[in-house]
Amino acid sequence: MLKSHPCGTLTAAHAGQPVTLAGWVHRRRDHGGLVFIDLRDRSGLVQVVFNPAESREAHAVADRVRNEYVLQVTGDVQRRPAGTENPALPTGEIEVHVRTATILNESKTPPFYINEDVDVDEALRLKYRYLDLRRPKMMANFILRHRIVKLIRDLLDQEGFIEVETPILNKSTPEGARDFLVPSRIHPGCFYALPQSPQQMKQLLMVAGVEKYFQIARCFRDEDLRADRQLEFTQLDVEMSFVEQDDVIGLIERVISTVARTVRPDKTIPQPFYRLTYEEAIRRFGTDRPDLRFGLELEDLADLAVGSEFGVFNTVIEQGGQIKGLRIPGGAAFSRKQVDELIEFVRRFGAKGLVTIARDADGFRSPSARYLGEARMAAIADRLGLEKGDLGGIVADSPEIVAAALANLREEIGRRQGLADPNTLALCWIVDFPAFEWKPQENRWDAVHHPFTQPKREDLPLLDGDDLSRVRADQYDLVCNGYELGGGSIRITDPDLQRRIFELMGNSAETVRRQFGHLLSAFEYGAPPHGGIALGIDRLTMLLADQPNIREVIAFPKTQSATDLLFEAPAPVEPEQLEELHIRVVLPENEEAR
Ligand code: AMO
Repeated sequence: MLKSHPCGTLTAAHAGQPVTLAGWVHRRRDHGGLVFIDLRDRSGLVQVVFNPAESREAHAVADRVRNEYVLQVTGDVQRRPAGTENPALPTGEIEVHVRTATILNESKTPPFYINEDVDVDEALRLKYRYLDLRRPKMMANFILRHRIVKLIRDLLDQEGFIEVETPILNKSTPEGARDFLVPSRIHPGCFYALPQSPQQMKQLLMVAGVEKYFQIARCFRDEDLRADRQLEFTQLDVEMSFVEQDDVIGLIERVISTVARTVRPDKTIPQPFYRLTYEEAIRRFGTDRPDLRFGLELEDLADLAVGSEFGVFNTVIEQGGQIKGLRIPGGAAFSRKQVDELIEFVRRFGAKGLVTIARDADGFRSPSARYLGEARMAAIADRLGLEKGDLGGIVADSPEIVAAALANLREEIGRRQGLADPNTLALCWIVDFPAFEWKPQENRWDAVHHPFTQPKREDLPLLDGDDLSRVRADQYDLVCNGYELGGGSIRITDPDLQRRIFELMGNSAETVRRQFGHLLSAFEYGAPPHGGIALGIDRLTMLLADQPNIREVIAFPKTQSATDLLFEAPAPVEPEQLEELHIRVVLPENEEAR
């Protein structure tokens, strides 16, 4: 090794010892004579001192180095002189007095500061990701990610699970996104699909008798990117035989609680995790991934609102819609412009508007006051729990629009007003999901989760009816602070029921045979009852690292427009490669190959 110790691990206990260190020049200060360098490696920083009286040669080297040069030094650990200690630094009690120094490599001036925690344009960070990752804050995220995954592997091993790798090149498995396809050279015109998840593989492993499977699995989905979505991401994928819903839930609670407590003992987590039915989550929060760190629940106002002279309210109720509202703390003091912004905000989610009622010291104010009347406004304010100085925000529309508009408004108010405790992980299971949703554009029923999910036994008779939306499934999602962290279900193991579900979702018998024949056939050879779950490792790490998006915990992420700025991927390939793959490219009109 070119070094004897990691820089960041030296303490007063090492005083008097000779050491050899190697790392990057984080900062250099020339005090006319003495040169101080903060030397950095993955473990942290240590101050090294070049004193011409101790070594003229080493001091001459220190004169030449600049930030980010790669430097090796040998010297002695010494306590810092009294009064010069730096309590903010783990190595702040000591410094290394250098005897010899060697420049191992030079560095150009980096395009952004590595030694200062300043905002840098993300495109620049991604283009020079290897420098971005050198920043101690970023390195800490990756060390954390490593620890999380290591803990998960150890805990599952202790619970009797084995990790099995499954193929990346295979056939499409439906998870609701578009597939990434890989053309086959050997089979002209045929394609592999990258896995959206190892769903079918892990079910086949249950038929194989693995009983307790897990995998830290890479998944690929061609969907629009968001702060918590990438084209490729990592799941903790789990499947278990001979279990019921609560067994899977119990396992995940044990694993996540231990991981969170170990890496973030400062965080508060509920024990057991909260649990809401899907129906309750939508009713109270308008979403199946509510942030439970603050209240502002949605209240149904239909009974109070009908019969007023407010035409909109009456029409909405006649048409089977809903009228719901929530409390906006302190909102009575909002300016006209601020209220207009809220109205604009809910419009983005399809709402036609937002009816507001302000509660002041001397009563109620509302642009709709003359239709609603004082008594009705008072009753609504009461239901919403408005205190003096608060504003009520009300949306009347179809249930879907009411839910989307108010759920997003609730989140926005929570964010703006800092209502959520940053040190709480409000982990919550959402259970009893509907099994099917109607896809109007496709004119068919689709699985809410995926088609392998077991409908609740008591709801099976509903499969004979026309309204599949009432069928609930043995499905559970894990939600944390407004993010969907994971999802899973008990699976169908009856080949006839599985076939029927595929067909109810509009697949012809021939499609079912072609796409899922292997699975149905496997179920005919003694499939054990089984269920499982997958958790997003990127999202889990993001939450445990207090980061606002998963790009901060992925070494080489793609941008919002699905490109890798460092490698400049995707990119055109050589014509010979295409020929070998039997592929001809037809570009959209007005578009040129790059
Ligand atoms: P699901 O599709 O719900 O379930 O995915 C499980 C979890 O994976 C994470 N995730 C993502 N993370 C980053 N970027 C993405 N594009 C992305 N898509 C999903 C989320 C999500 O909760 N096979 C089933 C699991 C099962 O039934 O066992 C599945 O994949 O955190």
